[in-house]
Amino acid sequence: MSTIDRHSTAQLIDGKAIAAKVHAEVRAEVAALRSQGLTPCLAVVLAGDDPASAIYVRNKVRACEATGVQSVSHVLPATTTTRELIALVDRLAADPAVHGILVQLPLPPGCDTDAVLACVPPAKDVDGFHPANLGALAIGTPALVACTPAGVMRLLAETDTPLDGARAVVLGRSRIVGRPMALLLLNANATVTVCHSRTRALADELRRADVVVAAIGRPRFVQGDWIRPGATVIDVGMNRLPDGTLCGDVDFDAVRAHARALTPVPGGVGPMTIAMLLSNTVRAARAQATTEARPR
Ligand code: GUN
Repeated sequence: MSTIDRHSTAQLIDGKAIAAKVHAEVRAEVAALRSQGLTPCLAVVLAGDDPASAIYVRNKVRACEATGVQSVSHVLPATTTTRELIALVDRLAADPAVHGILVQLPLPPGCDTDAVLACVPPAKDVDGFHPANLGALAIGTPALVACTPAGVMRLLAETDTPLDGARAVVLGRSRIVGRPMALLLLNANATVTVCHSRTRALADELRRADVVVAAIGRPRFVQGDWIRPGATVIDVGMNRLPDGTLCGDVDFDAVRAHARALTPVPGGVGPMTIAMLLSNTVRAARAQATTEARPR
């Protein structure tokens, strides 16, 4: 199946098809590990009643089932305290049958997110949010990398987007997307600019970019004439408009007339986040099995 639709002005990057390819790779790796007696296992912690989080977690658990990864869900009420969350994460951290721990964000109001995430051992941090994993990425020795930025890198690779020496602009500086994204692009030898809400002359920064990754959470923010002809544009945004429709951070119709390639929303980056979570879980399981087998 082609992962690019070549009939439109910009090539549409088919995240669903590329995610399906990653799922197939994961399924084969899991089958091989299971035959050696190792079943990769992901523990998912969902606290509170955020409806979007419940849907994300359900999709993650289903993807585990579809690829043979074992998953164990821990669903907790909105009244859960930081102390209770830390006790659960500590228990999962000590359990040798659990290879990956995912604490779905946002946590309920009043919970100390940093304190909870710091208790996830870096080796089981399949979200790549622990300071040790972000630090490893920053010094160019990545271990477990945040799923959405890792998925964007796979989309860029699958669409033969040159990064070595390319000018890349990342719009947004969050811990989950913008910062790790910028580091991954830098590690791939791109010249990286990070833009955010305080950036001056933002459109001028974007007009120089060969690659744009938009992750600012503002519906249809990126305009067509901000995009250099031939640029590759990755839209990480997932915004719900008042009429209920979903849209990205990019004005899709306008940007499509300028870009070489563009991700749709939905069906672009979204499916890749879950695919990379599975991939990270398999990687974590394999690394833990290897570490345990090593003589001390
Ligand atoms: N909430 C929104 N995106 C994510 C994600 O990638 N991981 C986790 N744990 N929570 C999220």
